Amino acid sequence: MSFAIPPAEFKNPRAEHDFVGRTCSISAVGAYVPERRLTNADLEKMVETSDEWIVSRTGIRERRIAADNEMTSDMAAKAACQVLSKANVSADQVQLIIVATITPDMPFPATACLVQDKIGATNAAAFDLEAACSGFIYGLEIGQQFIMSRTYDTVLVIGAEKLSSIIDWKDRDTCVLFGDGAGAVLMQNRTNTHGLLTACLGSDGSKAPLLSMPGGGCQHPATPESVAARLHYLKMDGREIFKNAVNAMQTAAKNALARCDLDISQIKCIIPHQANKRILIAVGERLGANSGQVFMNLDRYGNTSAASVAIALNEAVERGRIERGDLILMLVFGAGLTWGAAVIEW
Ligand SMILES: CC(C)(COP(=O)(O)OP(=O)(O)OC[C@H]1O[C@@H](n2cnc3c(N)ncnc32)[C@H](O)[C@@H]1OP(=O)(O)O)[C@@H](O)C(=O)NCCC(=O)NCCS
Repeated sequence: MSFAIPPAEFKNPRAEHDFVGRTCSISAVGAYVPERRLTNADLEKMVETSDEWIVSRTGIRERRIAADNEMTSDMAAKAACQVLSKANVSADQVQLIIVATITPDMPFPATACLVQDKIGATNAAAFDLEAACSGFIYGLEIGQQFIMSRTYDTVLVIGAEKLSSIIDWKDRDTCVLFGDGAGAVLMQNRTNTHGLLTACLGSDGSKAPLLSMPGGGCQHPATPESVAARLHYLKMDGREIFKNAVNAMQTAAKNALARCDLDISQIKCIIPHQANKRILIAVGERLGANSGQVFMNLDRYGNTSAASVAIALNEAVERGRIERGDLILMLVFGAGLTWGAAVIEW
């Protein structure tokens, strides 16, 4: 039986697609965090907690909080402009903008469209991606598909969050963990590197209740009752999330390394989702990594959900922890549940 594409009276652009001579890599990374710092000492005045408890249980010392008039799209646009300037690419050359976020400016239109307007990307398609804290690697994998298929050459993937807008500032179990910020990368075809080698993504919706914001969707639209029941805030079962995060990230990492026939010792830098220092240490140990391989900056930013890996990647590059040609492993985990691991030749 033949699977040859039949002749047609029209042109099928997809018929010309093949990936030979094509790679997809990150040509630049940038980040933006708001000015205002919320320290553990500040939190001690808001809920029954202590700097000692927060540092020993999470590793977090402070986090950034966006101004009242500073939206997710504003932070995303600042990170995006930084990336474009580093890559020497003009906004009108961008063909697709993907914004990973769980804190869009509003349910619709997509925050990506607001970013498209703010940066002047007049030739770009734009959409939001909701995979919670895993959104950045989901975004990389999707962006990569467009580049490898030759649909687009220049794709912006942004992770941006104003988590302070959905945090219950009376709930000490959650309010100490999260912060605001944005990170962005430009994905392009660069044939002098292998770029994104693989991304192993996963999900388990049966565990959705472990981490969610129950209100604001069609199940619990905003009503006086839903507000009174505090349904419009993030809810989490911390202990269960902790266990699932360690298991999912280490399994995804092992699968991604195996797909590339790589040993952990060949990885220059592991950039994990900055959830909790104890989670990252546990994952690193289970992978057989040495502590110097695991990059952490959560002490200063807390968990910024979809923005966290991009913000960490930017800092790792700026500090010279990653240089062109190095192999890096990125790990994510979040609500859904969702998770992922990506291997990149930087
Ligand atoms: C939330 C988390 C830090 C709690 O740490 P833990 O070691 O699991 O702590 P426990 O849940 O066992 O709680 C220990 C005690 O500290 C208390 N506690 C919780 N938050 C506190 C806080 N901010 N300050 C002081 N005490 C706190 C609890 O009430 C509990 O008290 P109890 O023993 O009297 O009931 C941890 O479970 C975690 O990080 N989970 C993953 C969260 C995460 O990463 N979410 C995002 C994923 S994308």
